[in-house]
Amino acid sequence: MQDASARVVEHREIGAGYRFLVFEVPEMAVALTPGQFVHVKVPALESSALRRPFSVFDAADGKVSVLYKTVGRGTAALNSVKPSDVVSVLGPLGHGFPLKCEGTALLVGGGYGVAPLHFLARVLKASGHGDIEVFIGGRTKDDLLAVDRFRALGVKVFLATNDGSEGVKGLVTDPLDDELQRIREAGGRFELFACGPDPMLKAVALRATGTGSRGWISMDRHMICGVGACYACIQKTVRGNSRCCVEGPVFRAEDLVWE
Ligand SMILES: Cc1cc2nc3c(=O)[nH]c(=O)nc-3n(C[C@H](O)[C@H](O)[C@H](O)COP(=O)(O)OP(=O)(O)OC[C@H]3O[C@@H](n4cnc5c(N)ncnc54)[C@H](O)[C@@H]3O)c2cc1C
Ligand code: FES
Repeated sequence: MQDASARVVEHREIGAGYRFLVFEVPEMAVALTPGQFVHVKVPALESSALRRPFSVFDAADGKVSVLYKTVGRGTAALNSVKPSDVVSVLGPLGHGFPLKCEGTALLVGGGYGVAPLHFLARVLKASGHGDIEVFIGGRTKDDLLAVDRFRALGVKVFLATNDGSEGVKGLVTDPLDDELQRIREAGGRFELFACGPDPMLKAVALRATGTGSRGWISMDRHMICGVGACYACIQKTVRGNSRCCVEGPVFRAEDLVWE
């Protein structure tokens, strides 16, 4: 883990309250793996909780990018960061996704949850794993993020929106269920990888355990220290309480206990 002084090289709004932020931080970019997160010190914040956790959207060529939604004080303050500013970034943090997959890799994301899935898709592709499908869900089409980036990787993309403004009208699990049925009828194997809101994660985890397949679920819990010291980010598992920032954020589907 490094506490790096990272130079901001890009920061732009991508619509609907989402922003794309890129840091130059070469040593960390090499060390990060998909599903890990960085803990970013928000310069304008003066309270004791100065950092905010973000999944890594990509890490390559000495740069680390994150895709974030402005939801409160910390992320609003982060909006004012400009290119050439230097920001403290702690990372790599947490346990990410496995980098090998048997059968079709089915990636399921909602909102900013697509961020670690993009990094994963790129790394799986680069390692020669060609069979990758991504399922992106949102309330409206504005919440369907990074669709072009996934398509540019050569990944098959399925979209779903609650209001039907793009893709299938309904939940992201609707096209996922059709695809699960197709793969199973063809005698194929698959693994599920998910990041997004809790109800979606639970639905994906239950599909993994229900079909006896591997599922890797990235949990989003409120964090303070990000390094295992404060126990703010507890996730119930079959082995007891786990710290999302250290034992997670990616857990095996069968290990998670849902409330
Ligand atoms: C491992 C991990 C990876 C994450 N990756 C991303 C990412 O890639 N992009 C992104 O936009 N966000 C991500 N988040 C969530 C992000 O850290 C929070 O949205 C952010 O910390 C909120 O800070 P704030 O001060 O703006 O909001 P606050 O003022 O602290 O809270 C505003 C609202 O957001 C809610 N909130 C706070 N923290 C979280 C959280 N962790 N999850 C869900 N709701 C929260 C609060 O309950 C409140 O309703 C991630 C969180 C974790 C734990
Ligand atoms: S955030 Fe402090 S233990 Fe996880």
